[in-house]
Amino acid sequence: MTSPIRTERQDNVLVIISDNPPVNALGQAVRAGLASGIEEAVGDDSVKAVVIRCDGRTFFAGADITEFGKPPQGPSLPEALDKLEASDKPVVAAIHGMALGGGCEVALACHYRIAVPSAKMGLPEVKLGLIPGAAGTQRLPRLVGAQAALPLVAIGDPISAKKAQGIGLLDGIVEEGKLAEEAISFAQSKIGQPVARSSEGQANQDGVKNPAIFDDFRAKHARKMRGFDAPNAAIEAVKAAGELSYADGVKKERELFTTLMTGTQSAAMRHYFFAERAANKIDDVPADTPLIDIAKVGIIGAGTMGGGIAMNFLSAGIPVTILEMKQDALDRGTAVMRKNYENAAKRGRMTSEQVEAAMGLLTPTLEYDDLADCDLVIEAVYESMDVKKQVFAKLDEVVKDGAILATNTSYLNVDEIALATKRPGYVLGLHFFSPANIMKLLEIVRGEKTRGDVLATSMKLSKKIGKVAAVSGVCPGFIGNRMLSKRQEQANQLIMEGANYWDVDDVLLEFGFPMGPFQMGDLAGIDIGWHRDPSKVTTVREALCAVGRFGQKAGKGFYDYDEARQRTPSDEVRQIISEFAAKEGSEQREISKDEIRERLLYPMVNEGAKILDEGMAQRASDIDVVWINGYGWPLHTGGPMFWASTVGLDEVVAGLERHGLEVSGYLLQKAQAGERFG
Ligand code: 3HC
Repeated sequence: MTSPIRTERQDNVLVIISDNPPVNALGQAVRAGLASGIEEAVGDDSVKAVVIRCDGRTFFAGADITEFGKPPQGPSLPEALDKLEASDKPVVAAIHGMALGGGCEVALACHYRIAVPSAKMGLPEVKLGLIPGAAGTQRLPRLVGAQAALPLVAIGDPISAKKAQGIGLLDGIVEEGKLAEEAISFAQSKIGQPVARSSEGQANQDGVKNPAIFDDFRAKHARKMRGFDAPNAAIEAVKAAGELSYADGVKKERELFTTLMTGTQSAAMRHYFFAERAANKIDDVPADTPLIDIAKVGIIGAGTMGGGIAMNFLSAGIPVTILEMKQDALDRGTAVMRKNYENAAKRGRMTSEQVEAAMGLLTPTLEYDDLADCDLVIEAVYESMDVKKQVFAKLDEVVKDGAILATNTSYLNVDEIALATKRPGYVLGLHFFSPANIMKLLEIVRGEKTRGDVLATSMKLSKKIGKVAAVSGVCPGFIGNRMLSKRQEQANQLIMEGANYWDVDDVLLEFGFPMGPFQMGDLAGIDIGWHRDPSKVTTVREALCAVGRFGQKAGKGFYDYDEARQRTPSDEVRQIISEFAAKEGSEQREISKDEIRERLLYPMVNEGAKILDEGMAQRASDIDVVWINGYGWPLHTGGPMFWASTVGLDEVVAGLERHGLEVSGYLLQKAQAGERFG
């Protein structure tokens, strides 16, 4: 097998080049090639300096994640990098694309780093439940200081070349397209000078002089880090970089890395990494399916949902025509979009020029005919089959042939909607989640007749607008809401049987969800879908509405809220629930948190199994993608189906049976065969 690493001579500089598509991951052959490249340079007296660069779309994007969990094959990355740093001949990293994880660690082990302006650098290992494992936590703080290293190591978002230069991670930025030649000149300019080794840097002393930075960082990011092990380990490693010798610091990093690597959180997060990428692939739609060009999008409905959906496309530079029935609704919707953008600008997330550019791409209209030349139209109107059918019949009349017609319905039958048109092959569901400009998930609902190119185009488009997509078949509630309804059913039942509603919420909070179902109800508004007749009370929610407990916006719903929006359980609500339970003759008992957790989560897994069995999801991991991105399922557990496999499917079945709940044939069969999902 030919090595992915080759060397080339340019005068007295040896250039080590990696060509390992798609992302130059640092697999065994790359590590071996790097090590032998540096040996070649050190052993050849005519070589005076070294450049390391990559072919293809990016510098090394990290260790090869597919090797994790398999028996290690030398040389290890730390070994290769130590060899590299030990060289007395200057070694320069020439970076384009992304220098991530192990790739950033390669750059850190080099004596100098230059990049093109579009390059990014980062240590995203925390997103895989890990910390850097090739001395990144030790070299980085010594080079740029603990304060600057903390967000890179413990949060894991990459930074731009400009920012990297600002903190001292890059020594220079060179013109795009001139990286290879500039790197050689840069390397030659360093010949004869003592090399700069990051491991010998002193910048890490900032954390020793001011140890409060670590606690401050923890406090500032507490919400983001809640439940995750890796960020705390990352902080510990950066702190150790200031307190320990380099060699001991590296040992400490290895201990922390190994603990994380063998733990369930990292296994779950690595599962998720591949799950998100697998979800992009549609089994019977070839990757090279020709795509439909989407140059202009139409949205029907300028309410919260329609406006939010429109913003996704505007932000991605795609013109949008938005349709409403009445001028005042259109004006209101447009004003809300502008306000949302202006708020983003106030928070520094965009410039005022970007706000104007996005709003400049918006055309509000009251005329269906203005949608005629759209390549994609998404309907976001009231959830009524009759209304949707009318809208689609009208769209079929006015919108050009070959355009995609999508519904944002969250549970209606997409096949039935498609039949209102003469082009059912061009109809599908694009189910956005509220707030649609923020939530990551896009459920792509594949109708019976939806064409392959329509699906492939929607998938590609989802990436362009920054969404994570997964395909669902047509079934009530699709993947996400169908499983949610099972959880909600149990939540309602549990409070009738005597569980405190705040305990139900707390169980999910402790599991890692941002909030539980009752607090969620308060946030969304208890009065959504309420018939507005206080004398007609058949459910707890209607009883709450009847006494003005509409949710957080009214200062009270299931909970009472203070001015800081802190929640307190309410005696009035407890009383309402008891009265309901008494009316239903529901026996009251103490319910443990374990029972609450099992009854909330196991039925979801059971429903997920049914969804798989019916072919409504292509793969178990797609269900995980839906729940992590659309419903706040904690990433560190890998999603409901991965989590169920870690709990053990036999235990899930036993739990369901213990609580007298349905066990699907498919789940039972998998449990009995000792299998996992996926
Ligand atoms: N190892 C193995 N495969 C990888 C990989 C990696 N580090 N990074 C990406 N890939 C694969 C993907 O699975 C995908 O495969 P597929 O085509 O078969 O689905 C293919 O490369 C292309 O990846 P994307 O679809 O994600 O391409 P994008 O252009 O959208 O994104 C990227 C490119 C930003 C580099 C993104 O792939 C990414 O974030 N990769 C992971 C980066 C990372 O986490 N690095 C740290 C690894 S851990 C580490 O380095 C430990 C060290 O400290 C010892």
